[in-house]
Amino acid sequence: MRRPPAPLRSARWFAADDMRGFAHRQRMQQMGLRREDVLGRPIVAIVNTWSDLSPCHAHLRERAEAVKRGVLMAGGMPFELPAMSLGEVMVKPTTMLYRNFLAMEVEELLRSLPVDGAVLLGGCDKTTPGLLMGAISMGLPALFCPAGPMLNDRHRGKAVGAGTHTRMFWDEYQAGHLGQDEWVRLESRMTRSPGTCNTMGTASTMTAIAEALGLAPTGSTSIPAMDAAHPRMAADCGARIVTMIAEGLTPQRLLTRGAFLNAAAVQMALGGSTNAAVHILALAGRAGVPLSLADLDAVARRVPVLANVFPSGDRLMEDFYYAGGLPALMNRLREQLSLGELTAAGCTLGEALQGLEAGDDDVIRPLARPVSPHGALAVLGGNLAPNGAVIKPSAASAGLLRHRGPARVFDGQPEMLAAMADPSLEVDEHTVLVLRNAGPVGAPGMPEWGGLPIPKKLLQAGVRDMVRISDARMSGTHYGTCVLHVSPESAVGGPLALVRNGDIIELDVAARRLHLDVDAAELERRRAAWSPPAPAYARGYVRLYQQHVTQAHQGCDLDFLQGTAPTPEPAIF
Ligand code: FES
Repeated sequence: MRRPPAPLRSARWFAADDMRGFAHRQRMQQMGLRREDVLGRPIVAIVNTWSDLSPCHAHLRERAEAVKRGVLMAGGMPFELPAMSLGEVMVKPTTMLYRNFLAMEVEELLRSLPVDGAVLLGGCDKTTPGLLMGAISMGLPALFCPAGPMLNDRHRGKAVGAGTHTRMFWDEYQAGHLGQDEWVRLESRMTRSPGTCNTMGTASTMTAIAEALGLAPTGSTSIPAMDAAHPRMAADCGARIVTMIAEGLTPQRLLTRGAFLNAAAVQMALGGSTNAAVHILALAGRAGVPLSLADLDAVARRVPVLANVFPSGDRLMEDFYYAGGLPALMNRLREQLSLGELTAAGCTLGEALQGLEAGDDDVIRPLARPVSPHGALAVLGGNLAPNGAVIKPSAASAGLLRHRGPARVFDGQPEMLAAMADPSLEVDEHTVLVLRNAGPVGAPGMPEWGGLPIPKKLLQAGVRDMVRISDARMSGTHYGTCVLHVSPESAVGGPLALVRNGDIIELDVAARRLHLDVDAAELERRRAAWSPPAPAYARGYVRLYQQHVTQAHQGCDLDFLQGTAPTPEPAIF
């Protein structure tokens, strides 16, 4: 049996020859385990975000068994621990409201139980940052085992992907170009197997960021969920965490500023989700690494989009895997990366990437032939977003990246949705649609409402994109000229709260400018007349969330969870 050199944390529970140690060992024996199964062996928590209402994680109970096999064969003892499952589509009002809840749960699960390290099973959007944030704050060796993307699908001979094509088909259905029979048939398409969305949405972006940070095995995050390589990778995770425990390889040893800048470069080269801007700042905040929106913008200016995957490109995640996956993409970026960063494998990033070259130049483009001349992210400033806002130029309409138009303002999602179906709504293709009260505090939870629908009468007239501005987020699978994450948000008095119908708004992405063309004195008059919306939650988790959530440019973590101040280990009596 492999014996780690340092005393095991779990020995505090199991090794003592006293009444407490007796009780802890006795309760293990109650489950049929032997004394030697828990004494002197690394105890590995398999934190599993499986649930029956989380389709992207439908296979994770089986994968937990593969992880266990790896742990056992390496001489460790695995215990599977369920954690909150944030299935993106089912959880309302938004999984983002519960990302920090999951992070707290993971941190306290690991702290309160006799474990020496953890394998984290997840992948659907907020699950990845939630698992990682908790593990970083707990500080035990931890390895992320990604759920993997679902299989490709085709419709009428063309690749169709989860999320991206749902919106496209809905627009065509609204415009009267798609019949109801086909619309109903499409319900069984695009999501062909368990696994995360097969477009470059938030899930694939965030799992790739986990890998780029060194927190997941090299190459693991591109493997399709239903490929036989996936359970093999899960078993490898189980074996590797046992060694990581022996090496004392904690997230803190991996998470340098260089690692975070590598992760940002990967986000940009993937044409990754704008949501990553929030999550990467939250992860850095947990690791105590200084990182800002300005850093992300600087990376976006130097790293082009190389992954030809929806919504920036026209292929799907399975194609990306066949082309070599993330290691191949990172090899294309070698000169933009800090290759000396340590990875979970115990070697440097440069060593881990050796020999893993791209096999398809159309799917993973060379630097000289990017997918889009526009980057994956631009951070905007100006009097409408003093602390920043973001847009994804590669998924926007080139003709709208510089635009002036009159605002049509909506104070909330229900009002906005009702108006979009109204044929008398006073809008045209030049109108700038503005949604407020959709931020971290206001919504609450900053839902993915920022891809505001195009008004039905304009869809029928052939309009498919408009400038849209909100303090919300947008699904990473979506596309359009959508300015998101406006900070500070309207519900805490950000300038978005002061916009009125007909005000002229100017967007200039090249100049990184978002400007409300109203003079300062008038804005001050409006501010004096403004009052915040009354809080809708008098109790419970959401009340706590609204009182402590930070703004988008700070990562939307709860303020008391940020930082690296030590938390004492639990007393064992
Ligand atoms: Fe789970 Fe997209 S809904 S990854």
